Amino acid sequence: MIAHDSHVPLYIQIKDYIRLNIQAGVFPENSRIPSERQLAEQFQVSRLTVSKAINELIQEGLLHSHVGKGTFVSSTKIEQELRTLTSFTEEMIRRGQRPSSRVLYAAVEPASSEVTKALLLPSGTKIIVLRRVRLADNQPVALETSAIVAAICPGIVDKHDFSQESLYQVLREECGIRIAYARQTFESRQATPEEQEALHLDPHTPILGITRVTYNAQEQPIEYVRSAYRGDRYKFNAILRYGE
Ligand code: GLP
Repeated sequence: MIAHDSHVPLYIQIKDYIRLNIQAGVFPENSRIPSERQLAEQFQVSRLTVSKAINELIQEGLLHSHVGKGTFVSSTKIEQELRTLTSFTEEMIRRGQRPSSRVLYAAVEPASSEVTKALLLPSGTKIIVLRRVRLADNQPVALETSAIVAAICPGIVDKHDFSQESLYQVLREECGIRIAYARQTFESRQATPEEQEALHLDPHTPILGITRVTYNAQEQPIEYVRSAYRGDRYKFNAILRYGE
């Protein structure tokens, strides 16, 4: 229920209510949620307040509306199998969604100590830093910061438009890099203010923090990535075999 005397704006409370009901399966996938009028009556708020909450959830991809039919719960979270190493672009195409990115930062600079440690580099090594909001069908789903050893694929920052192009495709096709495997860690955490803004998150939305070190066929670490995936839009699956 919502609290009229709370410092949390009413529309945020209504968003949380709808989101929690989706997560709990009370409003199942593809089902119609109660109308604006019903929600406004239920919570004793104006339809404008309900409409603001619903519109933001539509923006975030959790709901969609059909003119004349109502507002529906969008299909499931993006489910990613942890079996093969894929790029964001490949994963989205496999799912039938359109990948794109918003490039927040792209530059060549000396590696930070975090990056030199992860990629086993001498200090001062030049790296390409690429920070992108990754979009699925124009909806932001992750914020990724990749660090690549600049010498292995020089000049790509100036030559390529990473709002549309795939980094792994450029590494493969232009620089002949054979990506072999990656080591990834996952942790749930709170979104930073930058992540909240980039991913259009409410303060309560959980984040899945993923750190990846990617290796080439010669087993050299070539990429270090820090990512924040929207916890409400992503799900990872793994097959675990007993005794192996
Ligand atoms: C995934 C990985 C990142 C990698 C990216 C490349 O999102 N988690 O480590 O940098 O794919 O994606 P793309 O080739 O689409 O630019």
